[in-house]
Amino acid sequence: MLYERVILPFFRRASRSAMAFDAGPVEPPVPPPGGAAFLYVHIPFCRVLCPFCSFHRVQYRDAKAARYFKALRREIETYRDAGFRFNGVYVGGGTPTVAPRELAATLELIRGSFPVGEISVETNPNDLTPEVIDLLEASGVNRLSVGVQSFDDGLLREMERYEKYGNRTEILANLERARDRFDPLNVDMIFNLPHQTPEILERDLDTVLDSAADQVSFYPLMTSDEVRRKMTARMGRLDRRRVREYYGRILSRLRPEFTAQSAWCFSRGRGAVVDEYIADAGDYVGVGSGSFSYVGGVMYATTFSLNAYSDRIARGQPAVTQRRALTLHEQMRYEMLLRLFGLRMDHDWLNRRFGDRFARLMFAEMAALKSIGAVVEDELGYALTERGMYLWVLMMSAFFESVNVFREKMRLHIHAELERDEDVEEAAVALERITRWARR
Ligand SMILES: C[S@@+](CC[C@H](N)C(=O)[O-])C[C@H]1O[C@@H](n2cnc3c(N)ncnc32)[C@H](O)[C@@H]1O
Ligand code: SF4
Repeated sequence: MLYERVILPFFRRASRSAMAFDAGPVEPPVPPPGGAAFLYVHIPFCRVLCPFCSFHRVQYRDAKAARYFKALRREIETYRDAGFRFNGVYVGGGTPTVAPRELAATLELIRGSFPVGEISVETNPNDLTPEVIDLLEASGVNRLSVGVQSFDDGLLREMERYEKYGNRTEILANLERARDRFDPLNVDMIFNLPHQTPEILERDLDTVLDSAADQVSFYPLMTSDEVRRKMTARMGRLDRRRVREYYGRILSRLRPEFTAQSAWCFSRGRGAVVDEYIADAGDYVGVGSGSFSYVGGVMYATTFSLNAYSDRIARGQPAVTQRRALTLHEQMRYEMLLRLFGLRMDHDWLNRRFGDRFARLMFAEMAALKSIGAVVEDELGYALTERGMYLWVLMMSAFFESVNVFREKMRLHIHAELERDEDVEEAAVALERITRWARR
């Protein structure tokens, strides 16, 4: 396939270079005109660390979490005082519900500070207790996303989730408890797990269709080299050649009962999206250790060291430690990727974002996407075709894999803190070295 052999390698290189941050002192993002932006809040704690996961997450400890949440609320106040007006919030992790009262206090601050229209939170099935569900509802959470990955007990064991996060029967009972309490109730699933046969995937699809979930996000398994090594020992070898077949099965089984909201997110009927990566405003601010922001064409990364994060906030310093100003062309490519991931990119939106410069600068890319049948253009704008949805699954995976590689380097940076639980304030590896690696 042309796009697997030509477009993807090109795209992979471009995404890696977008993650090559400049080292040196960094000023935090300033509000765009009007201050509107989307807020992402990162909670990096989990009770058990799954072997396939490349997100910034650490083992939960009471004292560490208490210190972290305090700093997090202070950081949110800093953005409020700087003039940001967040219109929506997504709390992701790690596991945001690992300390429910701390989460509720943080949401109370956010709701009291900003006109947030929607509040989305990620959780694990074992946290769906009556108390936590009530607390989330009382905190204004309208969208809840539950990480299931698979309903297959064998795969859950391999993923080391069976004991702590629940087996098939327990997960289904917990989802039932949350039925009709959120709009939507989303389940996160993974396809192309090494030992996931077509039959297991079909059973997972049947179970999703019969479950209390009114939305499902089906991610292809994405890795980085380091995670792949750990994962292979525990879960088997990844075979990327099955992605096309498995994705085809997902599309044909979920529709028509579910409607695609993005290339890998589907809602029962025509429900709304709960995908953290399509922020309508375009600009988003990430708070918390290991989060990313994108404001005014500049990408920022916040320190991955939990100790440095709390110390910096306590000293009144910005928690962002790296930045990378994207060229106008890079901004257009990045925003197009996210926008079309949500299936449509309208001329009106493009005009608001870029005026008439998009048509000139992105002429070659749009012509190539149309010529391979990935995108069609109508009077309102561009739309992803079914072929395009598959290409976007590959491109978004390539993009997240380069983010995963960056996270991996950052984990090396804070090795002592993560592995030995040491109270190291400064990084074990200089940021400049990480920047050089990322450029390779
Ligand atoms: C980072 S987790 C946070 C929420 C919660 N801790 C959980 O496990 O669902 C959000 C989702 O990311 C997805 N995810 C994590 N690692 C992944 C990987 N290597 N490839 C694809 N999806 C992954 C899982 O579906 C997971 O539910
Ligand atoms: S998948 Fe979820 S629970 Fe597992 S380590 Fe990643 S963030 Fe934590």
